[in-house]
Amino acid sequence: MGLFDHSIEVILHNQDKSGAYVACPNFPTYHFCWLRDGSFIAYSMDRVNQHESAERFYRWVGTTIERYSGKVDVLAEQLKAGKTPDNDGILNTRFTLNGLEENSESQWGNFQVDGYGSWLWGLAEHVRLTGNYALLAVLKEPILTTLRYLKLVWQLPNYDCWEEHPEYLHPYSLATTYGGLDAMSKLKKSGHLDFCDLDVEGFAQQVKQFLMDHAIFDGKFVKHIAPAKATKAFSPLTQSGVDSSLLGLVIPYGAFDLNDPVVLQTVAAIEKDLHLPGGGVYRYKEDVYYGGGEWILLTAWLGWYYAMVGNTAKARDLLQWIERVADKKGDLPEQVSEHVLSARNIELWVKEWGPIATPLLWSHAMHIVLVKAIEEGDK
Ligand code: BGC
Repeated sequence: MGLFDHSIEVILHNQDKSGAYVACPNFPTYHFCWLRDGSFIAYSMDRVNQHESAERFYRWVGTTIERYSGKVDVLAEQLKAGKTPDNDGILNTRFTLNGLEENSESQWGNFQVDGYGSWLWGLAEHVRLTGNYALLAVLKEPILTTLRYLKLVWQLPNYDCWEEHPEYLHPYSLATTYGGLDAMSKLKKSGHLDFCDLDVEGFAQQVKQFLMDHAIFDGKFVKHIAPAKATKAFSPLTQSGVDSSLLGLVIPYGAFDLNDPVVLQTVAAIEKDLHLPGGGVYRYKEDVYYGGGEWILLTAWLGWYYAMVGNTAKARDLLQWIERVADKKGDLPEQVSEHVLSARNIELWVKEWGPIATPLLWSHAMHIVLVKAIEEGDK
């Protein structure tokens, strides 16, 4: 079996009967389903006509959000009273495979907004690719809850997609919100979201404008935005350096065009600072998690970008590296430690949580997405 088929197999095999995708079956800390990982995984299944798998995931998300939708009322009250939202009001970033919040003693930073935009984007792709628009009516309540939630939280500081820096806002997370809203607004325009009264298009434009106003410095996207304080407005965090997740602003969330000068400058910065020549892609320069290795999913993401702009040669180079680092079984890890940024930090994490998460379903999903993007670029 080739790596492509193995990637599909790993994902299907590790989808729970509930519809949830476990982030990694062999890494206890990742025995949960994240909306972030899950949306990309479901998207990859849609790309290979495994639509039933994707649908089961979206239905799982729907039931899970409905289960906790009462928290959004609490959140609205908290914000009205000028309070900082707490666990009673925020929707979690990850859930058990049964769609439950994890043990409340966990200190996990659950306030991560990005997964909520991501699932709306992924769902829209699913119905576009399958024509199953009826699913939108089935998921009416969770869609409306998500839109209401995003309206309340989009300008609040929250954890980024690497589950760090809760003190800031993040262009990546804002772009997922944009992507989700933009997708919903298109569905509304085509008459498939008649149950939604919210001006989704106006909201999407507001988020995009916010990104244009606050996410750019020196011709490139920044990783973080400092929140508005009593005396100071939102401002790009100029010292934060580039982060490979900024690719998400372009694909898949489409907040900026593939050839926008700011995108080109940001990709050039990722190439210079975070892409090891002939190798993979790092998250960001100061990364110490498992020593800060090259991430499969980011390497595939950069390849996806190149395939989309027609540079299939570069996309193929990145794909080849991914194929080379798969283990004997064909499993793909979260990251590869051949050239880490901070070697002394590897042991520390191995002691804490065990060997690097392998197979990581999100890595396999992005591998599938890259292969399909190259195939399309070649047509
Ligand atoms: C990453 C997240 C990811 C999670 C599960 C974390 O280490 O920072 O982006 O969602 O693992 O894969």
